[in-house]
This record gives sequence, structure tokens and C-alpha cells, in this order.
Amino acid sequence: MQRQNETAPSTNIRTLESVALSATSSAAVASHGWVGRHDKKAADAAATEAMRRVLADAPGRGTVVIGEGEKDEAPMLFNGETVGNGQGVEFDIAVDPLEGTSFCAKNLPGSMATISFAESGTMWSPGPGFYMDKIVVPPQAKGLVDLADAPERTLGKVAKALGKQVGELRVVIMDKPRHQDLIKRVLKAGAAVHAPAEGDVGGSLEVLLPTGPADLLLGIGGTPEGVMTAAAVRALGGDMLGRLAPQRNEEAEAIRAAGMDLERIYTCDELVGGGALFAATGVTGGALLSEPRDSDGAILTESLLISSGEVRRVSHTTFGSMPRMTP
Ligand code: FBP
Repeated sequence: MQRQNETAPSTNIRTLESVALSATSSAAVASHGWVGRHDKKAADAAATEAMRRVLADAPGRGTVVIGEGEKDEAPMLFNGETVGNGQGVEFDIAVDPLEGTSFCAKNLPGSMATISFAESGTMWSPGPGFYMDKIVVPPQAKGLVDLADAPERTLGKVAKALGKQVGELRVVIMDKPRHQDLIKRVLKAGAAVHAPAEGDVGGSLEVLLPTGPADLLLGIGGTPEGVMTAAAVRALGGDMLGRLAPQRNEEAEAIRAAGMDLERIYTCDELVGGGALFAATGVTGGALLSEPRDSDGAILTESLLISSGEVRRVSHTTFGSMPRMTP
């Protein structure tokens, strides 16, 4: 199903900044107790439950357009679920309460709790599509790239837009068997490849943040993560394109049965069409965000808030101490 409507003023969405930060901070603290426990479902469940509790009291009425978990059969804030206290703005949300579940389970850097808010009716729903092909580029390359292009051509266009040589580009491509040929071609063209085992939301942030270390992201990842990223692009600037890329026959058949076009390339505005915001809180820490920690009887978290063209780094303190898991 594709949903699209008129672009409304983005001011309403800003009123949801604090609930976005509470949602990701609570999810990060709850899942942090599962760091290194090699149980990604339990970690995801803890994050989801904590996020769900915060969203229940959100000012307004929200619809979960992108829930997390269907692909991995993980617990979720399910698609179509409504959240909020019913008083105030109407909004759409995309949630990924624990992005990088394996990083969390194995105590590796890079997992974080994420959420995006957008004006009601402006967030694309991928229907039964779990995977999509993506390009994410910084603001200088906005409007210049095309998913139909060969990767070599895309590299040339982005290098030109950034005033660099292709050999100076750093490209994020997740280290997946499906990307082996793509990685080889990008390396052969002369660019460097950062290939994390997972986490294309974090990879996209490396491209989008003004001081980010990467120049573009390529490759196939989850549709929830794609819409989440589109909200960040929408809120900050930059560009993104996406196309459904089913990884199994059943997924492709379900997409066709839902009347969706496998060839269609979606622009960022089609993925998230109105004012949007994005928040993320570190769970295991890493280059982007630090992990939650105890601090004098309180818990300190570190978050990124991307809203109205700005990136803010926010420290959040809540009373209490970090949850401890006893296996
Ligand atoms: P989870 O945290 O839900 O496990 O997602 C991690 C992730 O790497 C995403 O960043 C990415 O979009 C997706 O999984 C790719 O899926 P797969 O690991 O099945 O290729």
C-alpha cells in the first residue's frame, strides 16, 4: 500500500521531539541489560516493550506505519497499531526499537534504539516487502543519483558533486553475501568500502551527518530501516532512493499480490512526504553514540535528534540505575 498526501507544515512534528527522545532512551536502557547475552529476541523485546510504554502516553494520535520485527519474527509495535493519548497532533511513526540486534547480543559497537515521526499519512508502507535496494547520499548530491544507474556511474556522479576523485570516496555497503559483487565493483572503481556486518541506519547516518565519515550508502537492507532513514533524510537534507528487492520467492509473490510494482523506484519524498524527525539512542556505543551508563544514582543516555534541518546531540538523565540481567 502506498500512502501519500499533501505536505503540511513541519512545526507540528517538532512538538514530538521530547517523546521521540524518551522513547529511544527508554528502549536503549531496557535493551542494554541484554548486551552480550547472545539473545537478540529478548533484547529486542525489552526495547520494544519500553518504547511501547512511552508511546502510549505520546501527545496525540499516532499510527505505526512501520513496525519492527516481521522480517525476523521479532516482537513488535505492529503495523497499524495506534499509539498516543488521543489529544493533539496526528502522526505516523516508524520504529526500530533495537537496530543492530546482533551487535547488542554480541556486545559489538553500533546498536541503537531508533524512531521516526512524520505527519499523518505521509509515510510509505512497504506492505509485504521486507527488503529494499537503497542509495543514500549527502545534500551536495541531492537529485543527481539514480538507482537504475550502474554503481560505477553513481560513484562518478557523487564524486563530482563532492568535488572529490572516485578514489577518495568512502562507501558504506553491508557485508552480506548478496553484496559481494557490488563490493568488488566499488573497490575496482577505486573507492574504499566500509562494510559493517549489519546496520544500514547507522551506515546512512555516517553519510548524512555533516561530519560523517562516509560519502554514500549502497545496497539492500530492510524496508523498515529504509523508511526510518528516509525520515532522517527528510529532516536533515541529503537524498535517498529505494526499490523493493525481495530476497525470497514468497516475498516477491506477496508484493505482486499486493499490487505493488517491483520495478518502481521511490524517491525520498515518496517514502516520507511531510515534516519528519528522527531520533536514535546508543545501546552498545560506538563512533556515533555512547552506551547508557550509571551516573550518581541516575542513568545517562546519549541520543541524536534530527529535526528541522538540525542535528542535536542530547544527553538524557533519568533517575534509577541500569537494569541488571541475572541469567
Ligand atoms: P535488526 O536490528 O532488525 O536485526 O536489523 C539489522 C539490519 O542489519 C538492518 O540494519 C538492515 O536493514 C537489515 O538488518 C538487513 O537484513 P538482513 O540482516 O536480513 O540482511
